[in-house]
Amino acid sequence: MRVVQVKTPGGLDHLALAEQEVGEPGQGEIRVRWHASSLNYHDLLVANGGLPVSDGRIPMSDGAGEIVAIGAGVTRWQTGDKVMSLFFPDWQEGRHRPERTRAITGDSIDGCACEYAVLSENAVTRMPEGLTYAEAATLPCAGLTAWQALMVRGQMQAGDSLLVQGTGGVSIVALQLAKAAGVSVVATTSSNAKGERLRALGADHVINYVEDEHWSDTVRKVSGGGVDHVIDIGGGATLQHSINAARTSGQISLVGILGGVTATVNVPMIFSKQLQVHGVAVGSAAMQDAMTRAVENGQIKPVIDADYDLADIADAFAYQASAQHFGKVTLSI
Ligand SMILES: NC(=O)c1ccc[n+]([C@@H]2O[C@H](COP(=O)([O-])OP(=O)(O)OC[C@H]3O[C@@H](n4cnc5c(N)ncnc54)[C@H](OP(=O)(O)O)[C@@H]3O)[C@@H](O)[C@H]2O)c1
Repeated sequence: MRVVQVKTPGGLDHLALAEQEVGEPGQGEIRVRWHASSLNYHDLLVANGGLPVSDGRIPMSDGAGEIVAIGAGVTRWQTGDKVMSLFFPDWQEGRHRPERTRAITGDSIDGCACEYAVLSENAVTRMPEGLTYAEAATLPCAGLTAWQALMVRGQMQAGDSLLVQGTGGVSIVALQLAKAAGVSVVATTSSNAKGERLRALGADHVINYVEDEHWSDTVRKVSGGGVDHVIDIGGGATLQHSINAARTSGQISLVGILGGVTATVNVPMIFSKQLQVHGVAVGSAAMQDAMTRAVENGQIKPVIDADYDLADIADAFAYQASAQHFGKVTLSI
């Protein structure tokens, strides 16, 4: 089978196509034929050496595919079942615990940039009905992160308001989940052309954060005093804005670092508004199953900007790094 490997010390020039034997599933294991993957910022860091991994590691946390063989004792699955990978395959349910999140697909263990993988039967969840493999492959990292932020930590309800930042994978699926749940959405972007696409997806207000340097004041204005929920993907560049944009008793989910890893914030603004600020790390298998039901019931179609062949993975990462994309970039395997 074809695989892609990250060669030490990383770098897009060092992503190597290789051939490997296809494994046989043992007790409690399944063999999956991956058909699609999607790119996340985390995968880019693994590929370019920003997050060092073992030499030869197969990258990519996201995968969607089909079960093609079943090992002894497997009762959950049959051949032909369509499944998605898990970012944290050992986090089945309950709270985040170190022992549940040590194994990270495409980082501390091999990922989905390969044609076949032999996995524990618990390392996948079922794919939403009605989605293509490429669409489903956008969900295990970006979709689940948005789901945990909004629905598990945020306890979002119909009638609430949400701020999403930029038009990357997490923000676009968050917008889609929120609209399906009856939530009003303020979205920011650096591009007026992308702004039009945000409106077409249902964003109620769009703000260009490059043209409007006081954009979080504008969020407060258009939302009638601040939003109930923020998904902060910018970190250093956006956290103070997120605090300013939130309504009293609002919730901020810290998810990303696209604008830097350190931030200077106005602490009294957090306690005087009684904000809840929480970190979010993807999610569990149980959360992924709940998200899958919501994607089905809400008839959510993930937004794919571009699709590349597995062999062109370096070009796909270069495109993602250029930040021209809207939504997700996928790989066909
Ligand atoms: N904690 C977790 O579990 C988790 C899970 C998934 C992702 N993440 C993190 O979340 C972040 C977003 O991930 P992603 O996969 O959605 O990324 P992505 O698809 O690469 O998003 C890129 C887009 O974000 C926008 N952006 C970039 N810098 C920005 C800034 N300073 N302020 C506002 N918007 C900015 C731009 O949109 P415009 O061109 O429209 O401005 C850009 O095109 C990353 O830091 C990633 O590591 C965390």
